[in-house]
Amino acid sequence: MRQQTQPTVTSNSLVSGIREGLTRPGQKQLPSKFLYDEVGSALFEAISVLPEYGLTRADVRLLRRHATDIVSRLPLPVIVAELGTGSGKKTRWLLEALARRRPSCYCPIEISRSALAMCQRELGDIEAISIVGYEAEYLEGLAQVAARRRDGEHLLVLFLGSTIGNFERPAAVEFLRDVRQILRTGDSLLLGTDLEKPVAQLLAAYDDPLGITAAFNLNLLARINRELEADFALQQFRHLARYNPAARSIEMHLRSTHTQTVTLRAAGFTITLEKDETIWTESCHKYAASEVPLLATKAGFDCTTQWLDHEWPFAESLLVAA
Ligand SMILES: C[S@@+](CC[C@H](N)C(=O)[O-])C[C@H]1O[C@@H](n2cnc3c(N)ncnc32)[C@H](O)[C@@H]1O
Repeated sequence: MRQQTQPTVTSNSLVSGIREGLTRPGQKQLPSKFLYDEVGSALFEAISVLPEYGLTRADVRLLRRHATDIVSRLPLPVIVAELGTGSGKKTRWLLEALARRRPSCYCPIEISRSALAMCQRELGDIEAISIVGYEAEYLEGLAQVAARRRDGEHLLVLFLGSTIGNFERPAAVEFLRDVRQILRTGDSLLLGTDLEKPVAQLLAAYDDPLGITAAFNLNLLARINRELEADFALQQFRHLARYNPAARSIEMHLRSTHTQTVTLRAAGFTITLEKDETIWTESCHKYAASEVPLLATKAGFDCTTQWLDHEWPFAESLLVAA
């Protein structure tokens, strides 16, 4: 097992992303990718086993049940690149099915160094699968994987867990187009999408009674305190999950309980928050299964097969680069 250790999430990009989001006029916003430092990645793992958060279990059910079928539809040899793996636990089913057909290389791409390490530990024992990890942003890592493939080797990109839902809908099309540009005709993308369901069920999934999702969200401020010498008073913020019916998304915010001033010393700026003003930290868009083929076409893919979970509506879609 080998791992490339070139970090791409420099403190420069952290500073500029945070400055831009907190000093823009109107709604303050922080990029959701910054939720995942070591603590954030560990808290996300805990969220994925919460009873209210059915999403990961639905994804696992589909991958477990259909791994052999999914793999049988791929042209071989294939190199597998996964975008934002987290712990990588559920990828085991696919990799084991693939290994039964042919020894292959798996390339997890992660912005979070600790998630990448978790993934490599989790999947490192699969016979006939060699792992090369990339600590990188999605597209940068994918371009590096594409550059290392040999002639005749196909690429399968995994984008599981409905992480596509973190993009606004037009940005999701743009992102998939960017992925398509890196691929060759006939390459594949396995895309997980969480489907629409009753709002009360969604709200419970993003605001659990144990407060794990709240801790995950608040950790973003704690991370900024740690890494940018900031003085966010965590007890003066509340986790807020709300449904946006126009966007069909759950939005996570941090609500300021007081009017307050926060200084980010290492970044060299100060902000003021009014009482009840929020910082928007993440969006999770929900899809109809029928939207995915349209999304795929707009981005230059054909959606050839879909597998659906009905217990927690969720879709796994196999897209082939047209
Ligand atoms: C919602 S979690 C999903 C994890 C896993 N795929 C799953 O389904 O459980 C998103 C993962 O993507 C990673 N991530 C977020 N933004 C990223 C980016 N721009 N580039 C690379 N990885 C990113 C995070 O560190 C996190 O582990």
